[in-house]
Amino acid sequence: MTQMTRREALTAGIAMATVGLEPLRADAAPAPKSDPSAVRVRLEVNGELRELSLDPRVTVLDALRDHLHLTGSKKGCDQGQCGACTVLIEGQRVLSCLTLAVAAQGKPIETIEGLSRADGALHPMQQAFIDQDAFQCGYCTPGQIMSAVACVTEGHAHSDGDIREYMSGNLCRCAAYPKIVAAIKQAKLEMERA
Ligand code: FES
Ligand code: FES
Repeated sequence: MTQMTRREALTAGIAMATVGLEPLRADAAPAPKSDPSAVRVRLEVNGELRELSLDPRVTVLDALRDHLHLTGSKKGCDQGQCGACTVLIEGQRVLSCLTLAVAAQGKPIETIEGLSRADGALHPMQQAFIDQDAFQCGYCTPGQIMSAVACVTEGHAHSDGDIREYMSGNLCRCAAYPKIVAAIKQAKLEMERA
């Protein structure tokens, strides 16, 4: 039987992170009944309205991961230093570990799970990361991809230097930086054609 290499397994994992996901449910994980400080919070995540009962101190990252079970956005530092938790809110990249869920109400949130098309086709940025082998462990990759999409749509991907500057908030401990730059350049061409 053919053995899958580590690289093939990682590539498959990245693709699976964005396709074949269970549809988002309209239900919400309720806060414990014993939590007297819980408030109702309505979040629009990847085009779906989700209602949650949350402690008002819960961040968008924890709401996504712990309450909506959208674990694509990663918790690296939980203090705004690594970029692993990057999501788009109203099209702008945001560190979800520093953003309170109550403050994100009424604003569309896009996560890595919502980036692929309804038919399962990968976003050009996801495909470019695979094509350019732009990850090793993959932990930073969802944040890198969300930030990279914004980098292109902001018009900050005109040169390698531009890309490095405007992606500098996303750290990669595997140092895949040269390939991340190559992926963003590839995706930029695709995104401009679309
Ligand atoms: S987990 Fe948010 S910046 Fe590191
Ligand atoms: S691919 Fe490992 S941290 Fe970036």
